[in-house]
Amino acid sequence: MIANSPAKSHTTSTRILSSLFIALFSFSLFDPFSSVSAVNESLTYLWPLPWEFTSGNETLSVDPGLSLAIGGYGGNSDILRAAFDRYRGIIFKHSNGVYLFDRLRGRRLVYDISKLSIVVNSDSEDLQLGVDESYTLYVAKKDGQSIVGGATIEANTVYGALRGLETFSQLCTFDYGTKSVQVYQAPWHIQDKPSFAYRGLLLDTSRHYLPVDVIKQIIDSMSYAKLNVLHWHVIDEQSFPLEVPTYPNLWKGAYTKWERYTIEDAADIVSFAKARGIHVMAEVDVPGHAESWGNGYPDIWPSPSCREPLDVSKNFTFDVISGLLSDMKKIFPFELFHLGGDEVNTDCWNSTPHVKQWLQDHNLTTKEAYRYFVLRAQDIAISLNWTPVNWEETFNTFAENLNPRTVVHNWLGPGVCPKAVARGFRCIFSNQGVWYLDHLDVPWEGFYNAEPLEGIDNASEQKLVLGGEVCMWGETADTSNVQQTIWPRAAAAAERLWSKKEAISTGNITSTALPRLEYFRCLLTQRGVQAAPVTNKYARYPPTGPGSCYQQ
Ligand SMILES: *[C@@H]1O[C@H](CO)[C@@H](O)[C@H](O)[C@H]1NC(C)=O
Ligand SMILES: *[C@@H]1O[C@H](CO)[C@@H](O)[C@H](O)[C@H]1NC(C)=O
Ligand SMILES: *[C@@H]1O[C@H](CO)[C@@H](O)[C@H](O)[C@H]1NC(C)=O
Ligand SMILES: *[C@@H]1O[C@H](CO)[C@@H](O)[C@H](O)[C@H]1NC(C)=O
Ligand SMILES: *[C@@H]1O[C@H](CO)[C@@H](O)[C@H](O)[C@H]1NC(C)=O
Ligand SMILES: *[C@@H]1O[C@H](CO)[C@@H](O)[C@H](O)[C@H]1NC(C)=O
Repeated sequence: MIANSPAKSHTTSTRILSSLFIALFSFSLFDPFSSVSAVNESLTYLWPLPWEFTSGNETLSVDPGLSLAIGGYGGNSDILRAAFDRYRGIIFKHSNGVYLFDRLRGRRLVYDISKLSIVVNSDSEDLQLGVDESYTLYVAKKDGQSIVGGATIEANTVYGALRGLETFSQLCTFDYGTKSVQVYQAPWHIQDKPSFAYRGLLLDTSRHYLPVDVIKQIIDSMSYAKLNVLHWHVIDEQSFPLEVPTYPNLWKGAYTKWERYTIEDAADIVSFAKARGIHVMAEVDVPGHAESWGNGYPDIWPSPSCREPLDVSKNFTFDVISGLLSDMKKIFPFELFHLGGDEVNTDCWNSTPHVKQWLQDHNLTTKEAYRYFVLRAQDIAISLNWTPVNWEETFNTFAENLNPRTVVHNWLGPGVCPKAVARGFRCIFSNQGVWYLDHLDVPWEGFYNAEPLEGIDNASEQKLVLGGEVCMWGETADTSNVQQTIWPRAAAAAERLWSKKEAISTGNITSTALPRLEYFRCLLTQRGVQAAPVTNKYARYPPTGPGSCYQQ
């Protein structure tokens, strides 16, 4: 099934204009980056680097009337058509000078690429962990090596096609000489797939509220780096911005009545992310980090002076968790759900008389009660058909009791995933020393050189490492600075999570990766993302003086 959307038609050209075009064209062919001294032509300016690719030495022009031809069982997807329209907006941001001039004269120009063909083999739009994101991309002249002239993306799923579209958009650059979009170093033949199924970014909307539009901008920017999980740390001890229909007083814990998310907002964020191939994993962090719950339901606090961990002795506490999770289940279809479980200081349970009594009646130490709480919350999530994710303290404290389906989320330091996978648990790598974005003094190299598989040599254990996640904790970040704190360093981790390890772990990264990351940072800024300079000593600081985007 091939359906063509109509391409723009052009009228006949005259000799003068086409020789002008050819002159400009040839100039750029031989020195495409003449004004960008930072560009090293032996590098491939795609981020993250594709797994396998070959390129040539031709420069191809792209028709501003680029049309879409779709095929395969999944070709007719709305997600795909919407993505094509988005990417067309990105690729043809500048109006095409020659094209306009030409049209005024009623003339016609021949472009090398006037059609993008996308073939998607499966019609399933189910977005679950491990969904096939692989794709093949050919870009060649009609008479070139490619069977189908122009540009072709082939993928098993619509989500693979989205990744291919992103790569295609990065191959397209606007040439100011010819005022047209060009693909350098064609023909291109790219075969690509991710190294890890889970490539995450944590956003914290409890320490500072982030408006829905800002979250959507961040989701868009994630798709440029092929990140695919938004870990939404929506609530914490400081504020509870989310609407929970079953317990409608919970969002009384928001900072103000204007800093809230309705369930419709949350559902909107999930579908916006899905259209970009991005999972949303929500987090309900218990029993610590939950003080804000008691603003709406003070009974969930052990006492007014002991507000967290939540009251382990009352069934009401678990009723609320159960109601909350049941409501969440209607919004978050991703199979993973995060239950926190970190930094639980149980001292005040012991100093609260009714909790102390309960501990005695049940013959539990506070440490055992922490375990009881986490396992009971896990049971609720599992009964809703979710796979629980917990921060590593739960594994460090009572690994033998955790449900075997548990995904262990590392953060405290190195060496946790090796221990977790040796016991058969799956693991997500987020070592705070290298992958916490709020640690402003960790340079891009720290993010780039981190390796989720470090210390794991056994291939079947390596498979249990789902991937990793960079964490944007919100204590010192809000709308005014969150994007420049995330970017460009999150991109360094994104390449680590996507690209072939051997290809990005050899050589001196100052010459092999840094110029490419600087280039990607400028690509982000061209797309309106407030990405900070790459090599600043402190991550999100603005430039220290005048200079090119490509050299800071
Ligand atoms: C372009 O590549 C072809 C085939 O690899 C080669 O024969 C030709 O010399 C190259 N042209 C230039 C200008 O480098
Ligand atoms: C509290 O819940 C537990 C476990 O579901 C149950 O055994 C117990 O009877 C409940 N207690 C009350 C007072 O409802
Ligand atoms: C209380 O728990 C401890 C340790 O789990 C156990 O050794 C002891 O027998 C228990 N006591 C009662 C009365 O159940
Ligand atoms: C690899 O790990 C698995 C699971 O822990 C174990 O069964 C297997 O024996 C290990 N293989 C080697 C070669 O150590
Ligand atoms: C890597 O390259 C940079 C600049 O090209 C250089 O300053 C640095 O010394 C090199 N590092 C190593 C370890 O060779
Ligand atoms: C260009 O990149 C290559 C790696 O592909 C590197 O060996 C070379 O040193 C770089 N050149 C400059 C001028 O940095």
